[in-house]
Amino acid sequence: MNTLSFMSANFVARQLGYKMPGGWSQGDTATNDYFRPLATFGERFDAMLAEVVALGFDAIDLWAAHLHFSWATLEHIEIARALLAKHKLRVVSYAGGFGGNVPEFRAACRLCAALNIPVLAGGTGLLKPAQTSGDIRQLTGGNPDRAALVANLREFGLVFGYENHPEKTPGEILDRIGATDTDVIGVAVDTGWFGTQGFDGVAALRQLAPRLKHIHLKDVKARRAAKTGFQMIDMGHETCRLGAGIVGIEACLTTLAEVGYRGAISIEHEPEEFDPRDDVKASKAFVEASFRARVVPPKKQLRYAVVGCGNIAGAYATNLAPYPELKLLGAHDLDPARAQEFTKKFGGKVYATLDEVLADPAVDCVVNLTIHHAHVEVITKCLEAGKHVHTEKPIAMTYADAKRLATLARRQRRRLSCAPVTWLGEAQQTAWKLIRDGQLGTPRVVYAEINWARIETWHPNPAPFYDVGPVFDVAVYPLTMLTAWFGAVRRVTAAGKVVLPDRKTKDGIPYTVTTPDWQTACLEFESGLLARVTASFYVGNLSRTREGLEVHGDAGSLILDSWTNFASAVRFGQFGETAMPVPLVTEPYQGVEFGRGAVELATALREKRPHRNGAEHAAHVVEIMQAILTSVKTGKAVKVKSKFPAPAPMPWAN
Ligand SMILES: NC(=O)c1ccc[n+]([C@@H]2O[C@H](COP(=O)([O-])OP(=O)(O)OC[C@H]3O[C@@H](n4cnc5c(N)ncnc54)[C@H](O)[C@@H]3O)[C@@H](O)[C@H]2O)c1
Repeated sequence: MNTLSFMSANFVARQLGYKMPGGWSQGDTATNDYFRPLATFGERFDAMLAEVVALGFDAIDLWAAHLHFSWATLEHIEIARALLAKHKLRVVSYAGGFGGNVPEFRAACRLCAALNIPVLAGGTGLLKPAQTSGDIRQLTGGNPDRAALVANLREFGLVFGYENHPEKTPGEILDRIGATDTDVIGVAVDTGWFGTQGFDGVAALRQLAPRLKHIHLKDVKARRAAKTGFQMIDMGHETCRLGAGIVGIEACLTTLAEVGYRGAISIEHEPEEFDPRDDVKASKAFVEASFRARVVPPKKQLRYAVVGCGNIAGAYATNLAPYPELKLLGAHDLDPARAQEFTKKFGGKVYATLDEVLADPAVDCVVNLTIHHAHVEVITKCLEAGKHVHTEKPIAMTYADAKRLATLARRQRRRLSCAPVTWLGEAQQTAWKLIRDGQLGTPRVVYAEINWARIETWHPNPAPFYDVGPVFDVAVYPLTMLTAWFGAVRRVTAAGKVVLPDRKTKDGIPYTVTTPDWQTACLEFESGLLARVTASFYVGNLSRTREGLEVHGDAGSLILDSWTNFASAVRFGQFGETAMPVPLVTEPYQGVEFGRGAVELATALREKRPHRNGAEHAAHVVEIMQAILTSVKTGKAVKVKSKFPAPAPMPWAN
């Protein structure tokens, strides 16, 4: 489901007590005047954000009048950043007019970069002038300079979506934005303005689909016969709750789904004469109901049971719940109370034993979330019983076991899909696309950092994690990603040791670490690429590179702030230049969507194609990890021999 965001311009008439006969500019001026004074900005911005959260939103489109690039000081921006964090609100777009010259546009870009706002949605005079007259927001006047527009967007890693007014048709919009630089320049469709212009919203969305950067979902009433004295209403732009007007919102939502739009959808409604909050709440419910109604379970769902209901199980169940292709049948844990608690919260029945799960013919697939050392036994039993398996990492602790499981899956004609799946994230797929597109030239050197701190400070059961060590527990993430991107590793040299052997659990129980808790490895890939991978359960949040990854090539370098966060910043720079942010290929999931591997497995089964997280690939990664530990022990280089089929990029990152 797309992110639903609250458009803060919905409050355009608020500072006028909802009496705005003078139209948009009257509300715009009053709002700027109200928010601009630094002394009261924090308190007023805080109150507005609290109202947005109270309406059930966790994302907002920040209208420029609430924090305008022409008056926002560093203090304003710092206050806004802290308040957005306090309310856990993500800004999905900056909305408004972004000036008529380069310094003004740069100021807007700087503000967006400071607040991690990915999209500017509105107008700018840097585009060539509109052919149509009557732009009510006077966004189009200025000094056209498309080259500067593009250069600034690229420099700040931003995307610009041009909003459709005063233009009356998609053709006029496409003419205005031009056919090039499609990665950074596109359209922010306002469905309400197409309604006012008498253009069919569905037809507009279809025509503009390849250039969609953002959506302002808005409904408008039919034009009134008599004049009211309210400028916007008399112009035929009387906004209303979604579904109550002439736009055909339901059909627009269906079209957005059909054209594969994955970005945020802003709920917009700016009445001149009343507070829109009740309507906005109803509109949000309308869109959510429409999403639910469109979710038709595929004829064949993948019915799954969870085995192992510990720390990560809740994240899986939450991630998988919205996907109709998967159906949770129940759960089993060695500790029955955990399975009880899990099923109470997420549904399904409690299976008393693993055998009971395997004897249930309704279960197609086991999602194995047991602790590391149980994986081989659980996976073996599941495959032997004819079940598909998606397993948490690592698939096994030795290459021999991993290979045996991959072979067993083939023999049984069952799928074995293996975490980690973080390389399927939007940021990670963006980075891979840069590499595949040749932006870096030939990549020759990688630095990957895994400074995973001290698990005992947060995990209630840290012993198994220390037993397997940071390589098997966490380095497995970047190793899976690097081998997906660059193919097989052929030689490993590593050094490390136990740097802090005596530790205590959160409950104060002492235990001794025997597997190296710090090591660094040099991997030599078949392609000739070299990677230095450092993994630690000692160094933590104070490191500048807790989970970073750099790829250096002949022509340029890319920097991924996090190999695990799907919304990580991705930066690229040509050799000798500064690395600047790159727009992600699509709207990212915020954080780690652990369930994405199980969804990929269900989709692959339905589409009768190989799944992306294959067991041979996972086994190759286990061979590398074993080689790292052997090299640490022996001080010698270790050869790696296994092969695996190259996985494909995600379809939306091709
Ligand atoms: N915790 C995280 O943040 C995290 C993140 C990503 C991946 N993982 C992976 O997920 C897996 C589980 O980690 P966790 O943190 O949830 O561990 P956990 O210790 O919190 O939970 C594991 C659960 O599995 C159960 N279990 C163990 N052996 C079993 C068996 N043979 N049959 C049935 N149940 C069994 C345990 O009773 C426990 O409830 C591990 O492979 C880990 O690498 C964990």
